[in-house]
Amino acid sequence: MKRVFSGIQPTGEIHIGNYLGAIRNWAKIGDQIGKEAIFCIVDYHAITIPHDASSLPRLTFEAALANMAAGLDPNKITLFAQSHVREHVELGWVFTTQTPLGDLERMTQFKDKSEQHSILSGLLMYPVLQAADILLYKADTVPVGEDQVQHIELTREIARRFNYRFASPEAPIFPEPKASIDTGAARVPGLDGAGKMSKSKNNTIGVLEPKDTIWQNIRVAPTDPQRIRRTDPGNPEVCVMFAYHKLFSNSDTVQMVDTECRRAGIGCVDCKKLLMENIWQTLEPIQAKAEYLREHPSEVTDALVSGADFCRTIAQDTMQEVRQAIGLLPLDSRRP
Ligand code: TYM
Repeated sequence: MKRVFSGIQPTGEIHIGNYLGAIRNWAKIGDQIGKEAIFCIVDYHAITIPHDASSLPRLTFEAALANMAAGLDPNKITLFAQSHVREHVELGWVFTTQTPLGDLERMTQFKDKSEQHSILSGLLMYPVLQAADILLYKADTVPVGEDQVQHIELTREIARRFNYRFASPEAPIFPEPKASIDTGAARVPGLDGAGKMSKSKNNTIGVLEPKDTIWQNIRVAPTDPQRIRRTDPGNPEVCVMFAYHKLFSNSDTVQMVDTECRRAGIGCVDCKKLLMENIWQTLEPIQAKAEYLREHPSEVTDALVSGADFCRTIAQDTMQEVRQAIGLLPLDSRRP
């Protein structure tokens, strides 16, 4: 791992799927490689579905704040907003011109989102901009949840195609980055038990959500549908609460819940109360940090400014190479 890049959309509240599937690993990687761990709030991606211009600046700030509260320390790692480094869009355009339409139309995320929203061309081009994000920094590793793996595969394809067309095999311009997945939390399920936790599905536990709202949502969340009465034995394998215990509780608790649920030794309400306490143990310090950052907003904005400064230098070097490789006339070509 020499350089790592990953991103998150500022489209709403950051949830425990984002935290466990991605941000928590980003913080660990930062401990190993410092500034070369680059994390981005991808605001240009957020406008590929209809958005409210008046709330986007706040959402971008909030996303940065939540990431910092959840463990990203801008004194160690690099954190920035995508639109502050314009080269993302420039490389995105170059890759757009080189990417077959069919590659984009078969992306699962595009198919899902185009059912929910009117199709803007930006939604189709979304993975091309994502490839530009990663390749602009020649990152070798991309820590993400499982839902992003297809996009990273396409990124590899885009890098390979670009190298083949515009560079020599001995001196490729772009590396082929690898996705890195936390197998324990690659696909955190939603509270409704109907698939992965996702902002668009309204089935989230927000990292910065108040304790009582989290509890209200957990309290009414479905468990094993076969377990109707308190005395019915349950099957933890089909219960989202058990999946969450595996993510938040220690192994003794997980073992106890597993055994006691199966023999109706513990009821769903008690199981949920125990879970709530363990979730809160993780979220409480994050929320305390978020509160501190809200009182010191310049710590967030300063981090974004210096993050963008660091990234711009790398991005400009890459773009110079790319412009030359694809045959653009240098701006200073009239000078001797
Ligand atoms: P986004 O904003 O949807 O999610 C941010 C990260 O959280 C992960 N994630 C999950 N992991 C486990 N379980 C879940 N339920 C869950 N939900 C979300 C995502 O996999 C992701 O790692 N396209 C990206 C943003 C992006 C990007 C990039 C990522 C733009 N450019 C370059 C990596 C590299 C996205 O929409 O993430």
